[in-house]
Amino acid sequence: MIDYQNILNKIHTSVTQDQDKGTIARYIPELARVNPEHFGMHLKLISGKEFAVGDSEVGFSIQSISKVLTLALAMSKIGTHIWDRVDVEPSGNPFNHLSLLELEEGIPRNPLINSGAIVIADILVSQLENPKAEFLKYVQDITGDSTIGYNLKVAQSEKETGFNNYAAANLLKSFNNLNNSVEDVLDFYFHQCALEMTCSQLTKAFFLFANKGNCLANVARLTKSQAKRINAIMLTCGFYDEAGEFAFEVGLPGKSGVGGGITAVLPNEYTISVWSPGLNERGNSKLGMQALEQFTTLTNQSIF
Ligand code: DON
Repeated sequence: MIDYQNILNKIHTSVTQDQDKGTIARYIPELARVNPEHFGMHLKLISGKEFAVGDSEVGFSIQSISKVLTLALAMSKIGTHIWDRVDVEPSGNPFNHLSLLELEEGIPRNPLINSGAIVIADILVSQLENPKAEFLKYVQDITGDSTIGYNLKVAQSEKETGFNNYAAANLLKSFNNLNNSVEDVLDFYFHQCALEMTCSQLTKAFFLFANKGNCLANVARLTKSQAKRINAIMLTCGFYDEAGEFAFEVGLPGKSGVGGGITAVLPNEYTISVWSPGLNERGNSKLGMQALEQFTTLTNQSIF
């Protein structure tokens, strides 16, 4: 039997001693206000058992972690048609890189970089009657928690400063890979990124990826094959130009966000979330990466 609580406690003590906690994302002004000292972790086993340490019940901006949830909802709506509009190759480039998009004629490398997630947002804007409300309801349903909501200040802050995302959406439009207006799609995209969740809520939301597509309430939200594919995309693309490093150091499919959160999955075993707002130079949580590296080392479990 692995003593998960003891392992989480050890990791908490060890990583929070690091004087260099990384740098808070400042390009979204509202995120710059977060206290860099926060650190939380939450582990949820498929068996139902849960373990936590630190600020695991404090809400934060999930940012790009939301891209996995919109992808799951879009896959459940239109299945393999997604792949006519987005590829599944790692980009090896930062999350907001634009030149590949132009070179590859408006087909984003994968659904987890910003341009790819904007195409997925476009699909949901077409598929849903009331996209923001219905996506929120989906996240609340798979998590079993109706208290989850959007942080409207964060969404507004990004709307005012998201010039790079406007550029990406306009490029997609110029290549006929955006069916709705740039404004409507980005309004949805900025809200999905501004979802506020705790580590504990994120491990519940990601439960379906560890559980062959069945959410916490054991309702099939994805087929087994779709869950497998999303895990493959998280492993190869979830950390942008640091995806190789995350697979090498941690060995789990996962997704980061510039709010400092990371959620990862060991299929058939558990989901785990960590939050530490300071980022490394590639935009991924600095202590979060270290904590997950220690977790898979100390438990001696990973997908490899
Ligand atoms: O679009 C953006 O730039 C942000 N809303 C999300 C970026 C992000 O979280 C990248 N992940 N590490």
